[in-house]
Amino acid sequence: MTTTLHPLLSGRWSTRAFDRNHVLADGEIVRLLEAARWAPSAGNSQPWRIGVAVRGTAEHAALVDALAPGNAVWAGAAAALVLVAAQYVGDDGAVRQWAEYDAGQAAAHLSVQAEADGLAVHQMGGFDADRASAVFELPEGTRPLVVIAVGRRDPDAVLPEPLAARENAPRTRMSLDEIVLAPAPTALPLSA
Ligand SMILES: Cc1cc2nc3c(=O)[nH]c(=O)nc-3n(C[C@H](O)[C@H](O)[C@H](O)COP(=O)(O)O)c2cc1C
Repeated sequence: MTTTLHPLLSGRWSTRAFDRNHVLADGEIVRLLEAARWAPSAGNSQPWRIGVAVRGTAEHAALVDALAPGNAVWAGAAAALVLVAAQYVGDDGAVRQWAEYDAGQAAAHLSVQAEADGLAVHQMGGFDADRASAVFELPEGTRPLVVIAVGRRDPDAVLPEPLAARENAPRTRMSLDEIVLAPAPTALPLSA
C-alpha cells in the first residue's frame, strides 16, 4: 500500500498570490467546468450551477465587489472568479437533500483538475450572497456556496501582512486520530 498521497492532492494549496497578468484560455476554463460537470451527485441530479467571471469584465468587477474585503484585496488578481451554487429545489419543486454536498464535490473536482493543469485555486466563503447571486441572476431555490479564484500563482507577488505570513505558513490538518471515528484502523501511515 502506498504511504504518500497523490501529488495532485498533496501539492494543492490555497494561494493568495495570483498573477494579475495571467489570462486563462477558453479551453482551460471549459476543462475546469467539464471536471465539475463529471462529479457524482445524488440520483445524478447534478444540482451545481456555476458562473464564470473573467478578469476585466463587468461580472468580475461585480463579483470582486461582493467579496469580503479581506478576500477582495488579493482575489481580484486571479484570472477568473468562479461562483459555485447549489440548486437545492429541483424543477419538480422537491427539495434536494444533498444539493450542497454534490456542489461541493463539483468544486473539489474543479480544484483537482486545476492542480493537474498547473493552475491555482482558492475557494472563498467570504462574500455577500445576495450580491453574488445578482451577478449571475441566480433563480429562487439556488444558493451560492463559494467563489473560487482561479489563476496562476505568482511567486513574486507582494502581499500585505497578515496575508504574506499566511501565504508562507505551513499547511496543517487535524490528525487521523481526531477525525477517524472508533474503532480506528491500527495504522494508516499516510502523509501529505
Ligand atoms: C467552503 C470554503 C470557504 C473558504 N473561505 C475562505 C475565505 O473566505 N477566505 C480565505 O482566504 N480562504 C477561504 N477558504 C480556504 C481555506 O481557508 C483553506 O482551504 C484552508 O485553510 C486549508 O488550506 P489549504 O487549502 O491551503 O490546504 C475557504 C475554503 C473552503 C473550502
